[in-house]
Amino acid sequence: MRPNKRTSLLHLIYFSRLNLPAEIPARNRAIEDIARHAQKKNEFSVITSFLMVDQNFAVQILEGERTSVTDTFNRIVRDSRHRDVHIVEWREIAKRDFVHSFTTSVRGPASEAVFAKANLLPSFQRGTPKGSAILALAQQLQAESMTKQGIEHLFV
Ligand SMILES: Cc1cc2nc3c(=O)[nH]c(=O)nc-3n(C[C@H](O)[C@H](O)[C@H](O)COP(=O)(O)O)c2cc1C
Repeated sequence: MRPNKRTSLLHLIYFSRLNLPAEIPARNRAIEDIARHAQKKNEFSVITSFLMVDQNFAVQILEGERTSVTDTFNRIVRDSRHRDVHIVEWREIAKRDFVHSFTTSVRGPASEAVFAKANLLPSFQRGTPKGSAILALAQQLQAESMTKQGIEHLFV
């Protein structure tokens, strides 16, 4: 019997430096603009993703079928709202880790403890963040958000 051939699923993790306004309301509006557009595009391409913003750094995990992830990343790289885009990890995965087409978690009072414990900023500044540490932080932020919504039992 032929093995069940399915299209390859992969994730791509990158980080970059944001070129967003310094003042908080304008910056939040800029992040919301990115989110609104990206969510629709990712839904269409069956991409799930998690974007974290820690000070001036953006770090995003994109999951999906190979060509969808590649096409999306090629658009993201050209976006002038950030610069110095570096791929941290790009590999096949057995299953998706993230639930939504686009989730953003900005480091702030509500998430400070989790971001502080992960302490990724020094590794971004050195240019050597680890994919496993980024993934663990994103998973934890997602789990906390799920718990707040009372749906943690779906993801044990
Ligand atoms: C930090 C960051 C993350 C982004 N993430 C996504 C994403 O997950 N999916 C997406 O389609 N666009 C994303 N974008 C937006 C793209 O860079 C690009 O502006 C958009 O996809 C272009 O869409 P258009 O071809 O409809 O103009 C992101 C942009 C930034 C700055």
